[in-house]
Amino acid sequence: MAPIRLPSPIEESLPTINPKKLYGNNNNGVDKVRDAVHKDTFEVKENELHATKKSRNVTFENFYGHKPTRVDRRFDVTLSDHSYLPKIENPRADWVVTAATNAFRAYQHGDLGQVKRFATIGTGSGTDVIAALDIFPQIEAVALTDLHEDVVAAAKSNVLASTEKSDDAIRAVASTAVARAGDVLVPLKGEKPFDLIYENLPNIPLPNAGDLDNGQASSTYVGDRTLDRIPPFASTALLDLHYVALWQAKNFNLLSQTGAVLSSMGGRVDIETMLKLADAAGFVGRVVSLAWKEQSEPENVIGGYAEFENNGLGPFYFYPTAALEKVFANYKPASAALCRQQIEIKLAPHRLDATTALQRYREGERIGHTVVVLASVLKAT
Ligand SMILES: C[S@@+](CC[C@H](N)C(=O)[O-])C[C@H]1O[C@@H](n2cnc3c(N)ncnc32)[C@H](O)[C@@H]1O
Repeated sequence: MAPIRLPSPIEESLPTINPKKLYGNNNNGVDKVRDAVHKDTFEVKENELHATKKSRNVTFENFYGHKPTRVDRRFDVTLSDHSYLPKIENPRADWVVTAATNAFRAYQHGDLGQVKRFATIGTGSGTDVIAALDIFPQIEAVALTDLHEDVVAAAKSNVLASTEKSDDAIRAVASTAVARAGDVLVPLKGEKPFDLIYENLPNIPLPNAGDLDNGQASSTYVGDRTLDRIPPFASTALLDLHYVALWQAKNFNLLSQTGAVLSSMGGRVDIETMLKLADAAGFVGRVVSLAWKEQSEPENVIGGYAEFENNGLGPFYFYPTAALEKVFANYKPASAALCRQQIEIKLAPHRLDATTALQRYREGERIGHTVVVLASVLKAT
């Protein structure tokens, strides 16, 4: 199928901007870079976004990499046209497998807090909720959000499908799951506080007039966040929605006293920038899981980063998967989090900027990136 060109709100070409000039009291510079990128050919490769089959059978152990303890061993996952695709045939490229599951296990086994009330933002197919039901033994209530009604409805039906043979307690949690559509945490405003909020929101902004129907199923999001007052350093790193999620969790009072937000981010920028993001939003962050992932939707995502890089942002980091595999071979995700400096040093010689990574991908090389999950708790006031 031919690539779809996203409509651009900007008619005139803008000059390339040096990222050093972007740090200031407002983020106008970043907005200009974004507009310039979207003036360029930002194409969404539709075949990377939409499933040919709308329903897949999942064997829990094959996908998540460990045996289930509380949810069913096999279940069907059904997708709507807007659902983000779980990478069932290639778990190494899947966010829930490489980020959510590892972070939930690190949180549970590290005894970091009891998770009775769990929420996930941008759930996609709902496989993150299924992981949470399996990993957190005290779970009593779950909530899930995404941008479209059909996505959250499909996700909830997948959660129900994965617990058909589970015990009554788990089935009760699944059947009472709150599933709401809307932006970031807005659909959960007014809910009782949560012990854990997981988010895996996208980094690449769509043009403000972008095609939500196509773009939302990928790793892009609607670009106009001017009302969110995002710090310029976060926008320059393309981490805007992660900041918004933290800010809303705090300001909508959605966290219990010991509650944490798990921010799942592709490590295309320094971990220090991510920790600074938590600090700027009023949190203390700590890395709980560090792993790697094969780049999903590579044409769209590496291509998106390359466009931003060409317009003065970045550089953004990618690696050949062979190097990631070798460097991470002796680390579990929680121990990698502890040893993150060692890992960053070992990975440094293999680092590719997005432009080079895109070229290498097009030449047939498998490209990946690190996956960082921060657990952030509110700063003492
Ligand atoms: C990278 S995907 C992750 C999906 C799922 N958590 C997974 O790992 O398979 C990002 C998800 O965030 C959703 N999303 C994008 N912008 C959002 C927003 N502003 N508010 C809520 N969800 C959003 C997308 O529709 C998509 O399902």
